[in-house]
Amino acid sequence: MQKKSFPFGTLRLQSLVTEYGTPFHLYDESGIRNNLQSLKSAFSKVPGFKEYYAVKACPNPYILDVLKDEGCGMDCSSLWELILSEAIGLKGEDIMFTSNNTSVKEFQKAKELWAIINFDDITHIDYYLENVGELPELICFRYNPGPLKGWNVIIGAPEGAKFWLTREQIFEAYERCRDLWVKRFGIHTMVASNELQTDYFLETAKILFELTRDIEQKLDIEFDFINLGGGIGVAYKPEETPVDFEELAVWMKELYNTYFSEREDSLSIVIECGRMVTGPYGYLVTSAIHKKNIYKDYIWLDTCMSDLMRPWMYWSYHYISVLGKQDEVRDHMYDIVGSLCENNDKFAIDRELPEITIWDTIVIHDTWAHGYSMWFNYNAKLKSREILLLSDGSSKVIRRAETFDDYFATLDYKGL
Ligand SMILES: Cc1ncc(COP(=O)(O)O)c(C=O)c1O
Repeated sequence: MQKKSFPFGTLRLQSLVTEYGTPFHLYDESGIRNNLQSLKSAFSKVPGFKEYYAVKACPNPYILDVLKDEGCGMDCSSLWELILSEAIGLKGEDIMFTSNNTSVKEFQKAKELWAIINFDDITHIDYYLENVGELPELICFRYNPGPLKGWNVIIGAPEGAKFWLTREQIFEAYERCRDLWVKRFGIHTMVASNELQTDYFLETAKILFELTRDIEQKLDIEFDFINLGGGIGVAYKPEETPVDFEELAVWMKELYNTYFSEREDSLSIVIECGRMVTGPYGYLVTSAIHKKNIYKDYIWLDTCMSDLMRPWMYWSYHYISVLGKQDEVRDHMYDIVGSLCENNDKFAIDRELPEITIWDTIVIHDTWAHGYSMWFNYNAKLKSREILLLSDGSSKVIRRAETFDDYFATLDYKGL
C-alpha cells in the first residue's frame, strides 16, 4: 500500500503533541500557500480567474487571512460567514454570497457589504424587492442542470437537489432582472463534490458555457462572470491522484475559446472551492486511550466523530498514521473509534495498521476542509483546539479548545 507522510516531519509533530496535548487540529500554512500558488499559476491563462474560498470548509479568520493574502475572495453561505469575511477586511466583489433558504438579515448584510449575491430561486427576486430594497447592480443565479448532469456521491442527482433554478426559470429570472435595470450578470452552478475527474468539470463548464451563450443571445445581455462552483476533490486515498490544475486550466481555456473567442477575455471564470484548497494540509492529531478486543479489535481515541464527521456522514475514507510507526508493517486490523454513544462513531473500519499500543499518537489525514467546521456538541462533547503551523516553522493556537463554561454559556441555571 502507498503511504502518506507529514511534510513537516515526525519529530516536529511529536514536539507539538508534547507541547499541546491531544486532540488538536493541525493546519500547515506552507501547504496551502504552495497549493494556491500553483492553482493561480496554472489558471493565469483562464480569463479573470479567481478562487473564492468556501468559508464553510474552515471558518477561522486566521486561515481566511492567509487565503486573502494569496489573492482569494470568500464564498459565503450564511450571515456569520459574511461577518467573518468582513472581519478580515473584505467587501464588494471579493465576497460571493452563495446561500440557500436565505433570510432577510442575510440579504441585508450581503447588500451592506456590496457582496455579489447569488440567488438560489426565482422567487428571491420579489422576496428581495419586498424585504430588502432595490436589486443590486450585479446579480447572479444558480443553475440546476437537472437531467443534463449525472449523480455525485455527496450532492446526489441534480433533479433531486433542493438547490438552484431550472433552465426555464433561469431565462425568466435574467429577463426580469434586465427589465428591472440590473446592469451586470453572473451565472453559477455547483454540481460536483469531491470530484477528481478533470472531465467532470469540463462537462459542467460546457453546460454552463452553452447556457450562458444562449441567454446572452436570447436576452441581449452580457455576462461578467461564470462561477463553476466548488467540488474539486482531494486524493484522500494514497493511491488516488489529485486533479492536475495545469491540465484542467489548459482544457478550460480551450473550451472558453470555443464559446467566447469574440469576448476578448471580458468574461471571467471563477470557482468557489473549499476542499481542495485546504483539505490535504490538515491533520486531526489524537491519542489511543483504550484498546478493546471483542468480536473485533478496537482502538478508542481521545476524540469522537464531532471532530470529523465525514466518515459518519459520507462513509468517507481518511488515511491514518500511527506516529513513529509510519514505516512499520500494517499487519493488524482495527476499527478506529471515538467516544460517542453511537455505533457509527468510527473513523475507520477494518483498517490495516501497525500494532497500536495505548498512548500512541494516531494522526488522521486530510482533515482541513469540512472537518472542524462540521462540529456538533452531541453527548456534551467539546471542541478541540486548532493549531496553525506557520510557514516559518513555529506554531500558533488559532482557536483554543472549548471549555465547559463555553458549553454552559447559554444556560442560566444555579450551580452551572
Ligand atoms: C455553494 C457551495 N460552493 C462551494 C462549496 C465548496 O465545495 P468544496 O469544498 O467541495 O469545494 C460548497 C460545499 O458545500 C457549496 O455548497
